[in-house]
Amino acid sequence: SKKSDFKGKKVLITMGPTQEAIDPVRFISNHSSGKMGYSLATSLVDRGAEVWVVSGPIHIPVEKSRFHWTDVKSAEEMFTAAKSVHDQMDIVIFTAAVADYGPAEVASEKIKKSDSEMSILLKKNVDIAQSLGQSKMEGQIHVGFALETENEKVNAQSKLERKNFDLIVLNSMKEKGAGFRLDTNKVHIFSKNGEHEESSLAPKSEIATLILEEIKKTEHWIKA
Ligand code: PMT
Repeated sequence: SKKSDFKGKKVLITMGPTQEAIDPVRFISNHSSGKMGYSLATSLVDRGAEVWVVSGPIHIPVEKSRFHWTDVKSAEEMFTAAKSVHDQMDIVIFTAAVADYGPAEVASEKIKKSDSEMSILLKKNVDIAQSLGQSKMEGQIHVGFALETENEKVNAQSKLERKNFDLIVLNSMKEKGAGFRLDTNKVHIFSKNGEHEESSLAPKSEIATLILEEIKKTEHWIKA
């Protein structure tokens, strides 16, 4: 029997990488495939939620018609799209791997090769989760992700506080089979009340289910 425990919930999910243009043919990006975000998005729709997706450039098969879907490239575009619907949402899940820096200027023509070295000046991008976290409304649930290569748990917990998340999902990058691109993941989930869950290595669809169970334990869910 199909569960409909998320019926009536409006959920925004950011997913995939962002691309920060250097010139018309080059960009700075990362290895996010969108799989973790898409697993969450489909689980939520299966369970009755109405889901808004704001996705960076991804190459996995998706059924866009099941969602309110917006494609973006840069962090700035992702921020604009997310911000425009944020206030109507019950739950926001930030799975996107957003580039923290992008070229300060985008060259209008393809940069030519020369004999000397070259450098690209980077400017800091907007932090989407932190900015929307500052305008989080009463009752809204914000779920963040963290990708760390050192001091993982301490860094994840400080991100939880700094970005005003209710939950943060830490990918175990050191774990074989976890993180970017793969179909499996292994995570730690920390809540703002200090609770901590550890998953086993499992398909991203199962990790998504676990995250939804943690959302249902948050105080705003219980009050709603
Ligand atoms: O897409 P897959 O291949 O399935 O891989 C999944 C994943 C590893 C990309 C995903 O599970 C994940 O961990 N996403 C977050 C990666 C990341 O950028 O983490 P972070 O520690 O840099 O950022 C912390 C949080 O702030 C994240 O929720 C991120 O979406 C958000 N953020 C970060 C920077 C920024 N400028 N804006 C943001 O919103």
